[in-house]
Amino acid sequence: MSDVFDVVVIGGGPGGYVCAIRAAQLGLKTACIEKRGTLGGTCLNVGCIPSKALLHSSHLYEEADKHFKNHGIHIGKLDLDLPAMMARKDDVVDANVSGIDFLFKKNKVTYLKGTGTVKGADCVDVALNDGGTKTLTTKNVVIATGSDVTPLPGVEIDERQIVSSTGALVLTKVPKKMIVIGAGVIGLELGSVWRRLGAEVTVVEYLDDILPGMDKDIVRQATRIFKKQGLKFNMGTRVTGAKKTKTRVTLACEPAKGGEGRELTADVVLVAIGRRPYTQGLGLDALGVEMDGLRIKVDQDMQTNIQGIFAIGDVIHGPMLAHKAEEDGVALAEMLAGEAGHVDYAKVPGVVYTDPEIASVGMTEQQVREQGINVNIGKFPFTANGRARAMDSTDGLVKIIADAGTDTVIGVHIIGPEAGDLLAECVLGMEFGASSEDIARTCHSHPALGEAVKEAALDVHKRAIHM
Ligand code: FAD
Ligand code: NAI
Repeated sequence: MSDVFDVVVIGGGPGGYVCAIRAAQLGLKTACIEKRGTLGGTCLNVGCIPSKALLHSSHLYEEADKHFKNHGIHIGKLDLDLPAMMARKDDVVDANVSGIDFLFKKNKVTYLKGTGTVKGADCVDVALNDGGTKTLTTKNVVIATGSDVTPLPGVEIDERQIVSSTGALVLTKVPKKMIVIGAGVIGLELGSVWRRLGAEVTVVEYLDDILPGMDKDIVRQATRIFKKQGLKFNMGTRVTGAKKTKTRVTLACEPAKGGEGRELTADVVLVAIGRRPYTQGLGLDALGVEMDGLRIKVDQDMQTNIQGIFAIGDVIHGPMLAHKAEEDGVALAEMLAGEAGHVDYAKVPGVVYTDPEIASVGMTEQQVREQGINVNIGKFPFTANGRARAMDSTDGLVKIIADAGTDTVIGVHIIGPEAGDLLAECVLGMEFGASSEDIARTCHSHPALGEAVKEAALDVHKRAIHM
């Protein structure tokens, strides 16, 4: 193997591996360094994929337990085989991870298992996992080292009794009581998994609302639905410390706005208060790479202040999402190959994979009001959608926000069945500059959940048919 490359990517997550594959497709000689021992990063190994596998399994369990009877299906006593559920999740991860190995071979990306350190814009050292080191010479360095868990002072993660998302994906028994710190995406997704499997789950959140940043109509609906499902919420509450015995964790809590403190006890505590960029040990300080706090500062071409050193994914600005990291990776590879590359961060969709799902893209109603943008808003509830009724999944609504002057759609927020997939047509429409009328006049098949999107678009000009 010659050790001179066009592109060396450090980190094999959705940002890094996608960038490496696209660069290789475009004829650039590419290497990717990953220290985990498997490709796919946080997303495939300990994030998106295992969490969605458990969300799906636990959803089926809850459906069988609570909802099959609505369809006239009676199955007697249910039995949970948690080790089998976990083994299936692990198989799903393995299949995805080894798929990337295959794609690297197919595209002739050189894969090095080890830890990369940037020595300069043309040089990366690799401490190989199997021992020894290697020095790679390259025209471009791409940093795609992702993120890790934000710690909470006083509540030290041991991944047994006090877990991060990583520990919450491998619990060996269903906790009787679980406290989730943080009512964000991870807290609600993994809190839902363990609640469905039988845990009593209490969510402690610093702010007054769950899912900060989301449209308030959606937040109101989501809060109501999650409470109905059995999640308990302690809002406006700060956790100040934790004490452990062999079997219990006691959290000291106090009102965020001040006042008398109290204690909450559980067998497992999940800390889910956010993630932070991971750049440890890369040697960026020594090179003088400019940072914005923990984030790497990059320009519109994803280049740092040092020519030839680029960064993508969770280590830079923008939402910390796998598909955003992938878009960064593709755009950068195309720029490095001399083509045009661009990511429109304003149109990156976000999906929370609870039941029902919550999906959104673009501006919220609160943002447009703050910015003084004049808008028309259409809403349509799933209770009025025939397919949702047939599925017994009528919780939720579609909300479409369109500029009042041009009718251009500038925000879509959905809570309801298959919300993540329903959103895709809206994202595509927004990429093409669609108006609400464009969506409203598009023929949607019947009976389909997508008709709720069409009806919400019709409601922007108050002409929904089925409401
Ligand atoms: P990462 O995926 O973090 O990959 C970075 C890789 O770099 C890691 O594998 C790391 O080992 C490696 N690395 C770090 N330093 C070095 C070094 N010096 N040398 C070599 N290798 C190094 N996003 C979604 O869009 N949808 C979801 O449903 C979703 N679910 C999630 C669920 C959970 C529980 C979590 C924790 C995250 C979830 N995310 C989800 C977020 C998503 O995982 C991240 O946004 C995404 O993985 C970021 O990709 P990345 O390539 O920037 O970094
Ligand atoms: P988050 O940012 O979504 O939510 C963290 C929550 O914790 C916020 O509500 C915040 O107000 C609260 N919080 C912060 N400090 C606190 C404290 N001291 N006490 C109590 N509450 C506190 O972060 P989360 O859930 O950890 O997820 C991290 C990131 O991972 C997400 O932002 C997202 O980018 C990604 N992710 C995406 C998923 C998806 O797309 N479906 C799924 C899971 C993660």
